[in-house]
Amino acid sequence: MMKSIRDCYTLSNGLMIPCMGFGTYNAKGGDNLEINRTAIAAGYRYFDTASLYETERVLGQAIAESGIPREEFFIVSKLWHDERGYREAKEAFERSLSRLQTDYLDLYLIHWPRGAEGDTDWKEKDLDTWRALEELYQAGRIKGLGLSNFLPHHVENILKNAEIKPLVDQLELHPGYTQEAAVRYCEENGIRVQAWSPLGRSAMLENPILKAYAEKYGRSVAQICLRFLLQKGIIPIVKSSAMERMKENQDIFSFEISREDMSFINNMPQNTWLGEHPDFAIPKKKSNFEQ
Ligand SMILES: NC(=O)c1ccc[n+]([C@@H]2O[C@H](COP(=O)([O-])OP(=O)(O)OC[C@H]3O[C@@H](n4cnc5c(N)ncnc54)[C@H](OP(=O)(O)O)[C@@H]3O)[C@@H](O)[C@H]2O)c1
Repeated sequence: MMKSIRDCYTLSNGLMIPCMGFGTYNAKGGDNLEINRTAIAAGYRYFDTASLYETERVLGQAIAESGIPREEFFIVSKLWHDERGYREAKEAFERSLSRLQTDYLDLYLIHWPRGAEGDTDWKEKDLDTWRALEELYQAGRIKGLGLSNFLPHHVENILKNAEIKPLVDQLELHPGYTQEAAVRYCEENGIRVQAWSPLGRSAMLENPILKAYAEKYGRSVAQICLRFLLQKGIIPIVKSSAMERMKENQDIFSFEISREDMSFINNMPQNTWLGEHPDFAIPKKKSNFEQ
């Protein structure tokens, strides 16, 4: 059983991955550099970023300034849907490395399986992208490769045609949106699931069912959400901009949600989906790539 956010799962290629990550998406209006500095000071070492977020550069700066060796960090980035394609993926990777001031990534993910509706050649495009990631992996430039927002039919396309299997799939996942079918499919195929927006981007914090459990366990609703995911073997990628809440979110290792309560939370009303749907919505366009 995990005892701290630095404890690790072993992915199917032997790569060790911490059981909780820090999210860097969108502190727009906030000071992202300062937030990343604070997160490092709070003890986080696993950082989740993406070319879309425009936080790679400040994360790279915060890590460089910290004086902590690069190997102690676990850095994950993602290529955006219009960076998919063999050549595009390789170029996007070089841009990410340069912004992050590093010469390798611990994990590199395809952010979305398909672009706008009408992206009819998404299967081919995903495979071309995956081939680029496989080559980066074989060249030792990424320690692992994976997916994000891929539902079973998207993952199947990769599994049927790829040489190297995806190690992780990062999905929107929190109490009230547990994506049981996708999670089961990933588990059956040896793919570790990660949860983005594990607090439902804070929408779950006012949920009366979760509030009752928070009271029962003498914990905050955020801690109930994160502990729930931990007990399911899912890696939460949680974001906060304040030291106090960053620490609170790590303090989930000294209590356990009972089997019965896990079942209740797992089966609470599933009506709290927040993000874009990988097949039916159009993920927003990345306006300008930093060079
Ligand atoms: N792969 C994808 O497509 C995808 C999509 C979205 C996000 N992500 C990743 O997942 C990460 C997390 O998702 P997210 O940022 O959308 O949502 P989240 O982590 O579920 O929620 C963040 C929100 O919760 C608040 N919060 C955090 N801890 C709290 C606590 N203990 N008590 C009260 N409020 C708390 C934060 O406020 P404060 O900042 O004020 O603390 C912030 O408003 C992102 O940063 C990103 O790295 C990936």
